[in-house]
Amino acid sequence: MAWNPSQYLAFAGPRMQPAIDLLARIPQDAPDTVIDLGCGPGNITPLLRQRWPDARILGLDNSDTMLARARTAMPDEAFEFADITQWNPDTRYDVIFSNATLQWVEGHDTLFPRLLGHVAPGGTLAIQIPRNSDAPSHRLIDDVIESGPWRDLLAPIRDANPTQKPEWYRNLLVGQAKNLDIWETEYLQVLDGDNPVAEYTKGSQLTRYLGKMDEPWSREFESQYRDLVAKAYPPEADGKTLFPFRRLFIVASA
Ligand SMILES: C[S@@+](CC[C@H](N)C(=O)[O-])C[C@H]1O[C@@H](n2cnc3c(N)ncnc32)[C@H](O)[C@@H]1O
Repeated sequence: MAWNPSQYLAFAGPRMQPAIDLLARIPQDAPDTVIDLGCGPGNITPLLRQRWPDARILGLDNSDTMLARARTAMPDEAFEFADITQWNPDTRYDVIFSNATLQWVEGHDTLFPRLLGHVAPGGTLAIQIPRNSDAPSHRLIDDVIESGPWRDLLAPIRDANPTQKPEWYRNLLVGQAKNLDIWETEYLQVLDGDNPVAEYTKGSQLTRYLGKMDEPWSREFESQYRDLVAKAYPPEADGKTLFPFRRLFIVASA
């Protein structure tokens, strides 16, 4: 995945609010060990550090560019390369926190129980994943995929988003979790700038596809997408663009 930390962090504010809300629902006051799973550029690490000043916090990610950004921004914090699909630690952690990451990892039916199994007794698995695939920002990606020469290349990965409905996660984890708290929030994100929804998506969802193509396809794909998104999300009278975004939260106790 061709992650660009600067593009991603252009919307650091709206991307951070769900992490704040997730963190607020974790009951641990003084965990010894905390994993930030899919830590990206480390943008959430200061929140974790502020909440738990004495914890051993470890950020894990499988993007070298994201990890480089995290290490530069926070040289005193610990970040390591790890692929979540292969991550199988032999110790358990008091908190496993994962914000806006597990939508990129397939096989939630085995992944989520496995992650909860890596949480120490009394500890917490806390997850936030976007559930916005019905929104024009996402559906228009599908429309562009269908209408261009890249269709055969991109169509097979188009349905790769493994995210399920809240009740599916409830039924998956209810037998394993001591306590289970699942909810959704739709944020009304208020964005600045020219065609900001296209810019926002370019830092996240669009990377799934742009990284698979060379020029001129990637440029042409992005250009078509930008035109469609600009029409779907016109600016309001005050110049701001509204980008509603639904997110799913899971807090499970081991
Ligand atoms: C959208 S960013 C989220 C960054 C940060 N957690 C936040 O809340 O803003 C998703 C991150 O997940 C990472 N990621 C995706 N698949 C992964 C995998 N299989 N193993 C480890 N990290 C992964 C990406 O490299 C990226 O940095």
